[in-house]
Amino acid sequence: MTDAKIHPVPANIVQRAHITETQYKEMYARSLKDPEAFWGEQAQKFISWIKPWEKVLTGDFKNLNVQWFVNGQLNACYNCIDRHLPKRANQPAIIWEGNDPSESATITYAQLHQQICRFANVLKKHNVKKGDRVSIYMPMVPEVVIAMLACARIGAVHSVVFAGFSPDAIKDRILDADCRIVITANEGLRGNKIIPLKNNVDAALVDCPNVKTVIVVKRTENTVDWNKTRDRWYHEEMTTVSTECPCEPMDAQDPLYILYTSGSTGKPKGILHVTGGYMVYVTMTYRYIFDYHEREIYWCTADVGWVTGHSYIIYGPLSNGATTLIFEGAPNYPTPARYWEIIDKYSVNIFYTSPTAIRALRREGDVWVKSTSRKSLRILGTVGEPINPEVWEWYYQVVGNNQCVVVDTWWQTETGGILISPLPGATPLKGGSASWPFFGIKPAIVDDHGQPVAINTLGKLIITQPWPGILQTIYGNRERFINAYFNEFPGNYFTGDDARCDEHGYFWIVGRNDDVLKVSGHRIGTAEVENAFLQANIVAEAAVVPVPHDIKGESIYAFITLKPTIKANDTLKNELIQKVRDIIGAIATPDYIQWADALPKTRSGKIMRRLLRKIACNDLADLGDTTTLDDPKVVEHLIQGRLLR
Ligand code: PRX
Repeated sequence: MTDAKIHPVPANIVQRAHITETQYKEMYARSLKDPEAFWGEQAQKFISWIKPWEKVLTGDFKNLNVQWFVNGQLNACYNCIDRHLPKRANQPAIIWEGNDPSESATITYAQLHQQICRFANVLKKHNVKKGDRVSIYMPMVPEVVIAMLACARIGAVHSVVFAGFSPDAIKDRILDADCRIVITANEGLRGNKIIPLKNNVDAALVDCPNVKTVIVVKRTENTVDWNKTRDRWYHEEMTTVSTECPCEPMDAQDPLYILYTSGSTGKPKGILHVTGGYMVYVTMTYRYIFDYHEREIYWCTADVGWVTGHSYIIYGPLSNGATTLIFEGAPNYPTPARYWEIIDKYSVNIFYTSPTAIRALRREGDVWVKSTSRKSLRILGTVGEPINPEVWEWYYQVVGNNQCVVVDTWWQTETGGILISPLPGATPLKGGSASWPFFGIKPAIVDDHGQPVAINTLGKLIITQPWPGILQTIYGNRERFINAYFNEFPGNYFTGDDARCDEHGYFWIVGRNDDVLKVSGHRIGTAEVENAFLQANIVAEAAVVPVPHDIKGESIYAFITLKPTIKANDTLKNELIQKVRDIIGAIATPDYIQWADALPKTRSGKIMRRLLRKIACNDLADLGDTTTLDDPKVVEHLIQGRLLR
């Protein structure tokens, strides 16, 4: 395996960086040798506690009873807002850029504090108590931050549902967490599209009898259906309450939020993060990985509906007292220069986005980028999927003008925060590698039997020691939590990713090794898409696999067997695609449907997805071991009918 070119870190960044390479190595060694002492120091430094913890860490990955900062008390909202007020009352906490370039707003820490207190009182007025779950289905407007932090303030557990999800997906998430209240907006705006958020909630709630209240932000002037006993306007509610609301003391182990993500089987999993460890971890990672300095303007383009939005639009930046930019719109609206124009408009210093967005904007040509100066930029981040080395180079050279550090940050919904990433100033950069583990993170790459593989050999990525940001459990399903993450390699956290580690200790993440897809960086389970197909009466069997896609990274390829009396045609194809969009949302739109008389199965009846993947990708040189196939002719037929050649 040839090694990648090492890029020097620009001198201006090295000079200002929080740490050097030598300090990183020293701190990293210490974090593994004595995690308790290390994390105790960090928790003291980065978080304000109401009551100190009695023990930094108890339990381990063998007994699965990990607890961080035992019996410590804190409040996440206090850490993000109140503690900054003496110094930053008039500093912008949020800069909001609307979908239309003419719309924007700035909200200071003092203003945000007031709005959060008010909304916390609105929640209380509607009987929301500590530990209750609150569903949030919102566009990218400041009210979403207010709603989330208001929950944290009173100890309610938010469950944000990405605004691109369908009514069915909302319903599943509301029922699983037994939410009694939903916060939404009448509509959302993104590019030329209007997203009917309230209508979607109405449709979802037909099957959610426990939801008694819906609070609606008025984002557009369009009217929506109104249920007088259930629905309340946000702006009207906010005028009826006081601006005083104390922060609820929360135990370090008390839940902060639930966020649903896809797994390799069944319905999405409610990832549960708890207050203490999560807050320590996101606050510290934000400071070091984005090398945040006082008064810098930070912009993460993720949606708050994903974990990146939770950890690195809201909790990490605000806990550090940063100014976080929230963008409502789309990267190509009104033109593909939009991102770069926003960077200039607000002098953004730190910019964090996804490989899909970078690839899409690169395709539009350099002219859009070069029409802007981007001279304020210091740090460029990427997350969500592997970034191809040539795309990394473009990000570094064209967007960053060879003056910025690119941090390729590897992590997951479950990990709470970034686990593997370069640190600006400390890590020599190799384009396409997530580089070195963060403090306290001990990754390993192993074969199927859990044995470490040699340098530069592909294997499964596991994490061998607990870290503070790790999920506590899957909401309401501890058994699934254990099965999903700790069964494969007992005593270790199983990431579901394949990776290799090179001779300089750089990690190269290749992609998922389970039945999870990454389409435009969105995490989608093959099982979810297959179940959506199966809800169409005409489908007998469905199997979904990923195929590489130039912009989206991966796209969805489905093999569909229709019921015997049904004749395949293009109208049916379109109907099936629509079915998946209706059941999950547009992010799960299949790009290819291949009709299959039958699916390749083993003699015991298991679908051989490995073969389907190869057929879909037109990778036919070596089909591997096919001796267990029940009927080899099935494979021949599918090869003949393949859609990509
Ligand atoms: O496959 C890895 C990929 O995204 C997965 C986690 O997805 P999700 O929980 O939606 O969280 C995404 C944002 C944190 C991982 O298992 N992934 C994430 N970051 C990277 C990545 N793959 C390669 N390089 C990355 N930097």
